[in-house]
Amino acid sequence: MDYKKYILPHIWNLKPYSSARDEFKGTEGIFLDANENPIGSGLEEDFNRYPDPLQWQIKSQIAKIKNCSTDEIFLGNGSDEAIDLLIRMTCTPDASSIIVCPPTYGMYEVSASINNVPLIKVNLTSEYQLNIDSILKTIDSTTRLLFICSPNNPTGNLMKREDIYKILDSFQTGFVVIDEAYIDFSNEPSFIQELNRFPQLIVLQTLSKAYGLASLRLGMAFANPTIINLFNKIKPPYNIGGATQRLVQKALGNSQFVTKSIQQLKINKEKLINDLKHIKGVSTIFHSDANFILVKFIRAQELFDYLISQKIIARNRSNVELCNDSIRITIGLESENKELIQKIKIFYTENNV
Ligand SMILES: Cc1ncc(COP(=O)(O)O)c(C=O)c1O
Repeated sequence: MDYKKYILPHIWNLKPYSSARDEFKGTEGIFLDANENPIGSGLEEDFNRYPDPLQWQIKSQIAKIKNCSTDEIFLGNGSDEAIDLLIRMTCTPDASSIIVCPPTYGMYEVSASINNVPLIKVNLTSEYQLNIDSILKTIDSTTRLLFICSPNNPTGNLMKREDIYKILDSFQTGFVVIDEAYIDFSNEPSFIQELNRFPQLIVLQTLSKAYGLASLRLGMAFANPTIINLFNKIKPPYNIGGATQRLVQKALGNSQFVTKSIQQLKINKEKLINDLKHIKGVSTIFHSDANFILVKFIRAQELFDYLISQKIIARNRSNVELCNDSIRITIGLESENKELIQKIKIFYTENNV
């Protein structure tokens, strides 16, 4: 792929900001280069020095876990930052477009709107799979980005792997972004291992889900090093704070937590699904490869309002295309799921369903 053709010229040619920490790599010395406070931070731990702008320590840990090289990794302030930067490096309002496949994660559309870039929607099929023929027909010379979310939010299912390959085989005049925020809960391998085969492929993942680090804000983009260099050129210089870097390094050393919590959440999911199956007001429980389930309910809006009144907060997706009467439920602790089931039963008993 001739990357230069698909990246905006002003980004390709950008001379990035050179930060003090780019110029000297060591940790020992007298640092009089970055106008920091040498005395400290007034905290138990010091945060007075700017953090590593390229987060090499975390990248080397992630490279081992994900079986890729450090120069194939970009780290962002959540994967939402990677989504925005991708649009900014590839799209202009007047000559580019983005394809998304609803119902899907809302930030692709919001980021496109913020950047004023036209967005074309090719809905999933009624089985929540990619509408391959329509997607291929919709792709044209303006298409710069195609977002595929797998496992998909809010439906929970993986997209068929062979369909993704069909797209990767035929669309090579823009980038295919596979958002794998929930991949750790599925039994499918990541598309990271396909980066060498498909130069236009970009894979997004996050530490917000299986790793339990949503509050630290750490998202990952995996791509060819040329693309990673462009991310690094246009990101804010210190986009991952020092506190996040230190805590993430520690958390990545505790792989047992991730494995165990995935196992536990899978057990909790099966139990929740089983309990829901015995409730009359439940119309459909959609297959899920993620840590949430989409459920179609009788009188979904009223049920949702009742749950809120009981301080149980789920995500009402009833007004989203192809998701009528559906509520997305994150898999909680066993006790939380039990309480949810009790409240749903009370709602339907009181309403004679
Ligand atoms: C599909 C998908 N992608 C990305 C994100 C954003 O993740 P992050 O917390 O890394 O910004 C979410 C968050 O819910 C998501 O559902």
